[in-house]
Amino acid sequence: MSSSISVTVIGTGYVGLVQAICFAEMGHRVCCLDIDEQKIARLNRGEVTIYEPGLEELIRKNTAARHLSFTTDASEAIDSSRHILIAVGTPSEEDGSADLQHVLKVAQTIAEHMSESKLVYVKSTVPVGTNAKVSNTIHQRLVELDKQHLEFSVISNPEFLKEGAAVQDCMRPDRIIIGCEDTAVFDEIRHLYMPFNRNHDKVMFMDCVSAELTKYAANCMLATKISFMNEMSQIAERVGADIEQVRLGIGADPRIGYHFIYPGCGYGGSCFPKDVKALIHSSREVDFEPQVLASVEAVNQLQKTHLLESVDSHFKGDIKGRTFALWGLAFKPNTDDMREAPSLQIIKGLLDGGARVLAYDPKAADNCRAILGENSAITYCDHKEDALDGADALIVCTEWNEFKAADMNSLSQLKQAIPVFDGRNIFDPDYMRYQGIAYYGIGRGLSVSKRAR
Ligand code: UDX
Repeated sequence: MSSSISVTVIGTGYVGLVQAICFAEMGHRVCCLDIDEQKIARLNRGEVTIYEPGLEELIRKNTAARHLSFTTDASEAIDSSRHILIAVGTPSEEDGSADLQHVLKVAQTIAEHMSESKLVYVKSTVPVGTNAKVSNTIHQRLVELDKQHLEFSVISNPEFLKEGAAVQDCMRPDRIIIGCEDTAVFDEIRHLYMPFNRNHDKVMFMDCVSAELTKYAANCMLATKISFMNEMSQIAERVGADIEQVRLGIGADPRIGYHFIYPGCGYGGSCFPKDVKALIHSSREVDFEPQVLASVEAVNQLQKTHLLESVDSHFKGDIKGRTFALWGLAFKPNTDDMREAPSLQIIKGLLDGGARVLAYDPKAADNCRAILGENSAITYCDHKEDALDGADALIVCTEWNEFKAADMNSLSQLKQAIPVFDGRNIFDPDYMRYQGIAYYGIGRGLSVSKRAR
């Protein structure tokens, strides 16, 4: 059995908020600190600041149970716990490197407010070597403040949450990576994470640098699988093969497996694009040119515009004045996150060509509007059927469940069949053909060759 521990989580973005809530749900007393006063005020009212299944109920429940509190007062937050997690953002710089200013600023804040020894966990995704920088920053600030007698350990503790399933991933982790060379604090760390061990110990101890690289290697491996499949889909399209058959055929080999081999209109989100670029940048800093990673990134860029090429070829380069229904804006289903979403490039291409867009997404329309600004050529619809009204074609960018079951009724009720550009291969090409609909999937050469007959 584990007893309740006080934890402070700095940064109430996606990662910080989810981790904080899961600690609270497991019975720890969690204090969340953020400099954004509006965000803290909203969280204190029990309002979630991001969409993530299950989050809202858990915030309300744990705030009411007094397991969870939110503050902008750094002194109170840092004072209240021995375990301090840094979970602030590390956005990409122009050159692909990760911007560490927020992480290092928080390190200084911790030093300024600590009055006893601390365990500092770096949850933010940070390049190899950052934990050493965090450690130096805290040490220097302590020296400046004449508090060098205070002890602290910096622990690399990367997260592996998937948006849309973050609460579940956090509550039932595959592994908990702990990069720490200070063996004296291992038991305390084990204790903090003990509630997350179900059938066996999930905590893996390793040195700090290996833990830092584990995070990047995991995301880059997953991004590589996707780019590999996207490249296969390009080959399939040209040789007349169906990538969906190929996917099933290769996934049956347990060494390959069925996970993360779905071709599509490119990967997006806050992690893969940023992390692949950051690891390329870190490799170059140590005089190594990574060939695979550079290709993973290049293939993804190409893939994001692939649907536009199909549109262009179908309409023989003439999309000016046409209207396109766009189903799905978010970078993946079950999230409202628009970061690096392939839909953004598709919208841009359509608008550049003089077309209009009727967009529908169950969750991400507001975030899309915030990124693209008000534009009279884009209409955000309340229902997927509304987006089809008067459209010359349908483009699918996100595989929300409601589209999969969009039993072609919505399409077959249209006055005339419109072409469908399916960026997530959610429809059956044969059924589409049966309905008399021109269908363009990703890597579905079979449908292309039959259509050409
Ligand atoms: C990812 C990692 O999965 C997670 O472990 C890490 O902590 C953060 O980054 P996330 O960004 O939430 O999580 O999204 P994920 O579900 O991994 O999907 C990323 C992108 O890859 C999406 O755009 C998705 O559509 C795409 N994808 C995924 C594919 O194109 N094909 C696949 O087979 C799987």
